[in-house]
Amino acid sequence: MDSHAIYKPIRFLKGGQVHTLARVAPTRTLLEVLREDLHLTGTKEGCGEGDCGACTVVVGELQDGKLQTRAVNSCIKLAHSVDGMALWTVEDLATPDGTLHPAQAAMAECHGSQCGFCTPGFVMSLAALSEQHPPRAIDRDLASQALSGNLCRCTGYRPILDAAVAMARMPRQRLDTPPVRSGLKALAQIAQAEKQALASRPAKPKPARSPYATPTELSTLLALRKAQPEAQVVAGCTDVGLWITKQHRDFAQVLDLTRVSELRQIDDYPHHIAIGAAVSLSEAFAALVAQRPALQSFAQRFAGLPVRNAGTLGGNVANGSPIGDSMPLLIALGAHVVLASTKGFREMPLEDLYLGYRKTALRPDEVLGWIKVPKPVPSSKGRRKGAVSSGEFCRVYKISKRFEDDISAVCLALQVVLDGGRVVSASIGAGGVAATPVRARASQAALQGQPWNASTVRAAMATLRGEFAPISDMRASSAYRSEVLGNLLLRFWLESQGTPLADVHALTASDLEAVQP
Ligand SMILES: Cc1cc2nc3c(=O)[nH]c(=O)nc-3n(C[C@H](O)[C@H](O)[C@H](O)COP(=O)(O)OP(=O)(O)OC[C@H]3O[C@@H](n4cnc5c(N)ncnc54)[C@H](O)[C@@H]3O)c2cc1C
Ligand code: FES
Ligand code: FES
Repeated sequence: MDSHAIYKPIRFLKGGQVHTLARVAPTRTLLEVLREDLHLTGTKEGCGEGDCGACTVVVGELQDGKLQTRAVNSCIKLAHSVDGMALWTVEDLATPDGTLHPAQAAMAECHGSQCGFCTPGFVMSLAALSEQHPPRAIDRDLASQALSGNLCRCTGYRPILDAAVAMARMPRQRLDTPPVRSGLKALAQIAQAEKQALASRPAKPKPARSPYATPTELSTLLALRKAQPEAQVVAGCTDVGLWITKQHRDFAQVLDLTRVSELRQIDDYPHHIAIGAAVSLSEAFAALVAQRPALQSFAQRFAGLPVRNAGTLGGNVANGSPIGDSMPLLIALGAHVVLASTKGFREMPLEDLYLGYRKTALRPDEVLGWIKVPKPVPSSKGRRKGAVSSGEFCRVYKISKRFEDDISAVCLALQVVLDGGRVVSASIGAGGVAATPVRARASQAALQGQPWNASTVRAAMATLRGEFAPISDMRASSAYRSEVLGNLLLRFWLESQGTPLADVHALTASDLEAVQP
């Protein structure tokens, strides 16, 4: 630990008390602090990489006067990131007289727990679910979504899903109480008083080193980025957290941008929405789905809910993994990114951000500020149910070995704008097929201006299969990846014709004959 650094204490509200922790290293995780410093061992460590949910806790923040709660993975969350927040672990759910929270009582009643190792995580996800939805509205689908980041290796999920639904039979217990709200307001006042005291100090020749900086304004973030280009920028830490827990990397300085108000907003403009880089994946996908409801099922296949609650869209884009899921979609939608520094802003199409394998055009003094996503071109329906005759048709397909909470072998996003049966424009983004997320320019050209029919699609399928030279790895072989690209284009075309491919049995022989290469 740096002995010259100025360590800001971490303060958070838990179990009705303010906890203050001094001199916490910037890369210490919330799980380490809970188990090792506070000796709260109810929260478990399973995988240490956001996959199993054993470490799930609930965090709460006041936003526009409302308490927003979300389940997150404490194993990859940095302890400093909960400064000023309310935190609930499994120790906080039962009331002081021992009355169990409905999430606990229902798990016991439905025999949802066997090993006890994963159970605290399931209970916390259920507690967040019952906080966010009226218990009577919780059905098995909603419960499956809420539990998408929790693994049970023994009993199976049926009794756990039963427990989620059974919570409706029990008296509701809220995490959101007046003492929690007033406690959070008191923490905000302390933080504000500290900020003012710091600002009124005489200027120093050099800025004091702060191992974990959480600026709240864009101008401060950019000044810090310029002054400390070596500091590790973090947002939701769902990528960086694994560098710490799995690769044992250490960072002397961390620059956390999740409190920057300008980057936490989604702004609506006449022709696009601008999603701030610090907006969580859950909120960003909700905004994208509001524009294009067909994206709903894809949004739910991005990691599990606790990862989507913590991770940001900006982090996914800035990280630039070739198998990241949002970028093929954003490329297909024609998204632009806005990069910010103390010198000003620059804007570029998303695909131009990627220069090579995990190499981006971001300069050392820049951060990703916003992702601008064009709004859909209105479409009109074709004669067959679900078919589109003009306007935009857009889909994104994720191919992975496991349906839930898995990384893509291939991700393909396609958007066509049709007019009078012709392709006015085609836009295709692909992941898992090159060193970066890419735009499929040759395949777009094969579709552009052509009639939107089987022979055009056949020709474009061949182009798409040959456009990239994907590698073979544990997720898929090169040949499989190429083959599946073409198949997905075929699926896209069939869906645009009103063929509901979610149910393959609904495919008629003539559907297939029409497009057999
Ligand atoms: C269990 C699990 C499942 C996952 N599943 C998926 C999945 O299905 N699909 C998928 O695509 N990804 C998945 N991920 C990866 C991860 O969740 C995403 O990449 C996420 O969007 C990263 O965002 P973050 O805010 O957590 O970024 P962080 O981890 O905080 O940062 C990631 C990188 O981006 C940089 N960065 C972040 N924000 C900015 C900014 N504004 N400006 C400049 N640089 C910035 C950081 O410096 C760092 O290099 C998964 C991760 C886990 C742990
Ligand atoms: S320990 Fe497995 S998700 Fe945190
Ligand atoms: S109850 Fe813990 S793994 Fe199933």
